[in-house]
Amino acid sequence: MFRSHTCGELRLSHQGQTVTLAGWVQRSRDLGGMTFLDLRDRYGITQLVFNMEINAALCEQARKLGREFVIQAKGKVAERSNKNNTIPTGEIEIVVDELIVLNVSKTPPFTIEDETDGGDDLRMKYRYLDLRRNPVRNNLELRHRMSIVSRNYLDAQGFMEVETPYLIKSTPEGARDFVVPSRMNEGQFYALPQSPQTFKQLLMVSGYDRYYQIVKCFRDEDLRADRQPEFTQIDCEMAFVEQEDILSTFEGLVRHLFKAVKGVDIASLPRMTYADAMKYYGCDKPDTRFEMRFVELNDLVKNKGFKVFDDAGLVVGINAAGAAEYTRKQLDELTDFVKRPQIGATGLVYCRYNTDGTLKSSVDKFYSEEELKRWAEAFGAKPGDLILILAGEANKTRKALNELRLEMGTRLGLRDKDTYSCLWVVDFPLLEFNEDANRWFAMHHPFTSPKPEDIALLESDPGSVRANAYDMVVNGVEVGGGSIRIHDRTLQARMFELLGFSPEQAQEQFGFLMNAFEFGAPPHGGIAFGFDRLCSLFGGSESIRDFIAFPKNNSGRDVMIDAPSPIDQAQLDELKIKLNS
Ligand code: AMO
Repeated sequence: MFRSHTCGELRLSHQGQTVTLAGWVQRSRDLGGMTFLDLRDRYGITQLVFNMEINAALCEQARKLGREFVIQAKGKVAERSNKNNTIPTGEIEIVVDELIVLNVSKTPPFTIEDETDGGDDLRMKYRYLDLRRNPVRNNLELRHRMSIVSRNYLDAQGFMEVETPYLIKSTPEGARDFVVPSRMNEGQFYALPQSPQTFKQLLMVSGYDRYYQIVKCFRDEDLRADRQPEFTQIDCEMAFVEQEDILSTFEGLVRHLFKAVKGVDIASLPRMTYADAMKYYGCDKPDTRFEMRFVELNDLVKNKGFKVFDDAGLVVGINAAGAAEYTRKQLDELTDFVKRPQIGATGLVYCRYNTDGTLKSSVDKFYSEEELKRWAEAFGAKPGDLILILAGEANKTRKALNELRLEMGTRLGLRDKDTYSCLWVVDFPLLEFNEDANRWFAMHHPFTSPKPEDIALLESDPGSVRANAYDMVVNGVEVGGGSIRIHDRTLQARMFELLGFSPEQAQEQFGFLMNAFEFGAPPHGGIAFGFDRLCSLFGGSESIRDFIAFPKNNSGRDVMIDAPSPIDQAQLDELKIKLNS
């Protein structure tokens, strides 16, 4: 028996028992006649004590142990004179009488403590050591718990987990594919799935009317804090359902997760149309932990001689409640913020509603106090508030104001990570026009069903067709998205035509799905949650990397195993791949 207990298990009630522990040396302290070692494993830390007077040889041996040596120690559980209330084992220590070094360790490149001295790159290179640290391990434990709770919930609802293939066919829609050359089929490639979308739809045709899978997806896209090239979805599909059934089932999953994992009660999720999300928040994933809704001012501000507003397609603002005291310097900072190239506003107009009831704006030359009063009314502003206004081309200005709103939310402490605001964004447009490609693209994916009442507009005004598509948004993060699918071959063919596919191309790319639809496809729809994003949200972090055991860095590299990497000429030859050097 290697160990009788773990390093997180022993309490005062074990006093007097002889126990054997095994783990890593976290730290040692030499106090003359006594040596203390902190022994760590996945479950916690237990203090080992060696006494020079009782066993000098053993004490000497203990003193020589370096950080991260792997040891086995046998001894008696004793009450500690100097108790440590910060850890569960802090009332006891083990008076060791046998010590075996199971393995030595080089000095680790950073300290394996909650607060470490290792920078990001170093910790990524030695990820297996970083994983020994409590904060990282806690994240993975949270992830494990979330996957168990999700599986149990879905199982109880009659969902069946089915695995779908990882080597599939490349398609031109969506993000870029990662491709894998096929040795047995010269010059041909598999693609790694961006999601199991078409397979789960085929499973509906097969009659598996409640499917789920916690599954890896692969997308070759630019990386950000909330994006990894390989990430995990809780992917789900249901047959014989309408949008309402899907929304209520998966709202149920998320509310259950919040309750079971965080002990948080989430009320029924409100719905917001995509059109309202864009109009009032300037984005399709609004952070609704705070209000600060957009107010459009075109009617109030135009034709008063202020050229910036007169020339603008849209003049729109937010009311930062309680921020009238902002100093000139703070306002300049905000102006610099909105003028950054990533945000792209040309300037910022402000109007202070002073606590004495007077109003003062940066455009006083053009607007009387009476007029500013009307602005304040439009915003529902009170004395002490600060109105911030942007102007320009409508879409660009909304986007920029969204950034400013989030910045103000952060500055005013309105984005507490322990407060959760969840909602459904519904009625997404079916299509979006891409100027570069000069054609329509599916906003969600080509299998999304238009709203039946909008189908008549498909040819005459494709841009105004709404889809039966929905996203779940929590604290400004898109945690999941899905849609009701087209299950009718003719409508699917019409969609492909709209997306610029010739019938031959559509048959070549998606023939397998369209053919399947000729064999009795039931009405169906589904959703996929970004599992890494859900975990990071529950863990209170912006970065999904912290919740992935072995993540890639921002250049898509795994610096620990040094991938991607060149392959041997022999491998290339076998695959009949010639590189242009
Ligand atoms: P979608 O592309 O919206 O839908 O993806 C679903 C969810 O997956 C998460 N996600 C990501 N997470 C981390 N890194 C990425 N690169 C990444 N890309 C997406 C997001 C997103 O909401 N097949 C459809 C779902 C369906 O229609 O049922 C799909 O994949 O949280």
